[in-house]
Amino acid sequence: MCVYQGVSTLMRTLPLPEGTLSTTTISANTSQRKKVTTLTFRQKKERGEPITMLTAYDYPTAMAMDKAGVDSILVGDSLAMVVLGYENTLPVTMDEMLHHARAVARGARGALLVGDMPFMSYQVSVEDALRNAGRFLQQGGMDAVKLEGGRERADAVRAIVNAGIPVMGHLGLTPQSVNQLGGFRAQGKTASAAKRLLEDAQILEEAGAFSIVLEAVPARLAEYISKKISIPTIGIGAGAGCDGQVLVTHDLLGLFDRFTPKFVRQYANLHETMNKAFAEYINDVGAKRFPAVEHIIEMTDEEWAAFQKEVK
Ligand code: KIV
Repeated sequence: MCVYQGVSTLMRTLPLPEGTLSTTTISANTSQRKKVTTLTFRQKKERGEPITMLTAYDYPTAMAMDKAGVDSILVGDSLAMVVLGYENTLPVTMDEMLHHARAVARGARGALLVGDMPFMSYQVSVEDALRNAGRFLQQGGMDAVKLEGGRERADAVRAIVNAGIPVMGHLGLTPQSVNQLGGFRAQGKTASAAKRLLEDAQILEEAGAFSIVLEAVPARLAEYISKKISIPTIGIGAGAGCDGQVLVTHDLLGLFDRFTPKFVRQYANLHETMNKAFAEYINDVGAKRFPAVEHIIEMTDEEWAAFQKEVK
């Protein structure tokens, strides 16, 4: 069954929602995938099967990656940089994150959806952390939340988990601390920093996190941590020894041309493709090649003749 979605999508059909995800107006696509849960994450780690995760910030991207079979979609606060154009992740707000989370939830049915808690949504107090984590589930259609930090966030993680909300940790290069870290730089490269990272991972596990992102840490350290904890690690710039991998989709697609981190494999160059398409469109309109006869809407000769009579 199809519906018309208004003037801007005239003649374009969309599937009707199969069901309601939450008390909000979130609908969803019709993919029939079995829902990935935190239990799936654990089972995949036990079986030694790599977990796949990508970021998404909008409906069509979420739909495409869900159909492709990605295990988990992160509505990352990288939104601030790759979509909203900020220098770093600090300016993005809870309301902006929720706006994009809802779009992603409408597009993806099977993947485990993780909402990234933005800067200052969980650092001020445990109460704030709990309230904002809850908003991701109630208002954003997410299944879980992610927050950055180790031992200093253990109380917040415990409180959120105790409320029934799955939490993903994030250690290593934690972009919300970019000013404290002195830039976007690799972490855990000294023996003492590595030991602290391992301890933080164990503290997060003990606090109830279901998984931990390890960003920009030495590959052998990431592998060691992955073996030492029972919950899955998801690496980004942390080598193949992690239990899963995540990439920022705009890096993978070559959509973000400001810089590409060393650890990214670019699977497409959509920035270039888009640029070319836009230039062709501009040329076609300029040369009156677009719209062509196949793009126009017709009316019958009779109606046209009647119209001309009316306006004479
Ligand atoms: O915000 C984000 O996209 C992230 C990933 C880099 C893990 O946190």
